[in-house]
Amino acid sequence: MSSMVQPDGAAGGLPERVAAVRRELAEHGPPRSPDGAPDHATVSLPERDCDQVRDLLADEQACTVVEIGLAYGGSALAIGEALLGAGTRAPRHVVIDPFQYTVYDGVGWELLRSAGLDGVAELVTEPSQRFLARLADVGFAADAAFVDGSHHFHNVFVDLHFLGGIVRPGGVVLLDDVWWPSVGAAAAYFETNLGWRPMPGALDGGTTDPASGRPRTRAYRLPAPPPTPDFKEFRPFC
Ligand SMILES: C[S@@+](CC[C@H](N)C(=O)[O-])C[C@H]1O[C@@H](n2cnc3c(N)ncnc32)[C@H](O)[C@@H]1O
Repeated sequence: MSSMVQPDGAAGGLPERVAAVRRELAEHGPPRSPDGAPDHATVSLPERDCDQVRDLLADEQACTVVEIGLAYGGSALAIGEALLGAGTRAPRHVVIDPFQYTVYDGVGWELLRSAGLDGVAELVTEPSQRFLARLADVGFAADAAFVDGSHHFHNVFVDLHFLGGIVRPGGVVLLDDVWWPSVGAAAAYFETNLGWRPMPGALDGGTTDPASGRPRTRAYRLPAPPPTPDFKEFRPFC
């Protein structure tokens, strides 16, 4: 994991401090908006969806979470809040975003640091599709993942493929923007062919598409034990 920015602080940030940084971000936006970077309101998971993600991960008592897509740090702060609340002595949050410095000028990572989460979180600045392969290779295990990186079908598919080996059987994968056909189609394969089970009601109260009523974020429970599908039983998923 050579490109990880190693944590340089103690894992002692209080959930209240994280909550305060989250509130400030939600109410007033990021401390600066880098030239050419996507707008905070457009790119970030809305606050109430962040709350849903936090509460679900807290209920799951997740101790190790892989997150794809940092941007201004909105969802990462919510995940950090859940991890601190889990009461574990070694919470771990691997955050992957190749554009954190080139596009976002490091704003998201700065907010995680100012919340005291740099003892818990590690930032990886390379594409998730490459890094997750190495993470899987070294046998890294996570309780949960939150996926909100590249929204291209092929990239989401590759992310989910590797997360299927990284997130432990029975663990949880949360996927944002499933209302986009590219993201929803990738998820549909894992649901239809690999036994990933949507968790009904898990993210109730989150944002929905006003036209279709479909939720923007979906939670999946991974099968335990993982299936070993026969290619001859492939089920078309779109
Ligand atoms: C929608 S934003 C994430 C918003 C974030 N979850 C939040 O709530 O604040 C998508 C992020 O994915 C990142 N991204 C794009 N391509 C990526 C890739 N191949 N691997 C990892 N992250 C990627 C972008 O730099 C951007 O920060």
